[in-house]
Amino acid sequence: MSHKVLMLPGDHVGPEIVAEADKLLRCLASEFGLAVELEYANLGGCGVDAEGAPLPDSTLALARDSDAALLGAVGGPEWDYIERDKRPERGLLAIRAALGLFANLRPALLNPELVNASSLRPEVVSGLDILIVRELTGGIYFGQPRGIRTRADGVREGFNTLVYGVDEIERIGRAGFEAARRRDGRLCSVDKANVLESSELWREVMEGLAGEYPDVSLSHMYVDNAAMQLVRDPRQFDVMVTGNLFGDVLSDCAAMLTGSIGMLPSASLDETGRGLYEPVHGSAPDISGQGIANPLATLLSVAMLLRFSLDEGELAQRVERAVAGVLADGLRTADLGGGQGQSVGTAAMGDAVVAALRAQAN
Ligand code: NAD
Ligand code: IPM
Ligand code: MN
Repeated sequence: MSHKVLMLPGDHVGPEIVAEADKLLRCLASEFGLAVELEYANLGGCGVDAEGAPLPDSTLALARDSDAALLGAVGGPEWDYIERDKRPERGLLAIRAALGLFANLRPALLNPELVNASSLRPEVVSGLDILIVRELTGGIYFGQPRGIRTRADGVREGFNTLVYGVDEIERIGRAGFEAARRRDGRLCSVDKANVLESSELWREVMEGLAGEYPDVSLSHMYVDNAAMQLVRDPRQFDVMVTGNLFGDVLSDCAAMLTGSIGMLPSASLDETGRGLYEPVHGSAPDISGQGIANPLATLLSVAMLLRFSLDEGELAQRVERAVAGVLADGLRTADLGGGQGQSVGTAAMGDAVVAALRAQAN
């Protein structure tokens, strides 16, 4: 039976990097027997322009009918001031919510070849391998009420609600404990329990779960300290579990430790492991159309898709090995410093990964 994968290129550099993922998946099909059917649909600004909505009904229906989806990125300045419900980012939030993709796994792994591309010194980052488990369908991103209103004194105010139910904390907590159990057995829960009630409850629930995972050691850290520790001594962490907004911020920070935000993949999973896979970075409007975006975060997201949604762990490893191979050969996109090696564009980087993959077949 063939796997159905929905491709959602999105906006700006999205289609540029998803084109490389398309090549990779087709190579896996032709050279390694991966049974996969690719369908394409609109999400984000392209959905607004073509179908009048950032998450068209037809896209959601296709996503429900697929084994997994791969997203490039959504958004751009041209859609920043349209009606709020039509903004590209709302489409991404809506598909996460509609598919119940509450567990966002963002692994920050430093490839040894990129130790000099990181903004931190080699002795601080070499060997870095951490996983951020971010809650993705709750918290302040979705809490009600929200909006912009005018106060009685005539002054406008914007407001959002940070709310977490025990059920939401428990299921992301379990995702964190399970991930830690598969790794080095250390879970750091990141919160702001010294100020926020939602965090106080978060901490209580994490403590309650710890008894069920005696093989995992649980610690807690305030988010401001966690941001500092990530750049002071990132290797102290194994798995970090945190809420939606904190996870958004900390994962961009962790991305930079790996050399570039263009390197970090992610998986957003539901209870059953079905998922949406996407690079952690955005649509990079400042460099779109130039063919210079780094496609590796997207290609590594394909590896996560193979592993978690298609049960093709061996092919996932092949993709990861191919990526490591091109980096070892000295190929670098501009965000990785261009460097002493060869500076290449998006398509040349994607072609090199596909060539390295194909070489494994011979
Ligand atoms: P961004 O991640 O798009 O870009 C930040 C910086 O990193 C830019 O200088 C960009 O050129 C660079 N960069 C990002 N990805 C790169 C890549 N693959 N290769 C080389 N350089 C790369 O963040 P932003 O500028 O804050 O946001 C731009 C738009 O993207 C906004 O509309 C935002 O809402 C949206 N966004 C979407 C997603 C998503 O779809 N998952 C994530 C974040 C931001
Ligand atoms: C991400 C992005 C999204 C988020 C935006 C585009 C809605 O920044 O996936 O990290 O904040 O979750
Ligand atoms: Mn983000």
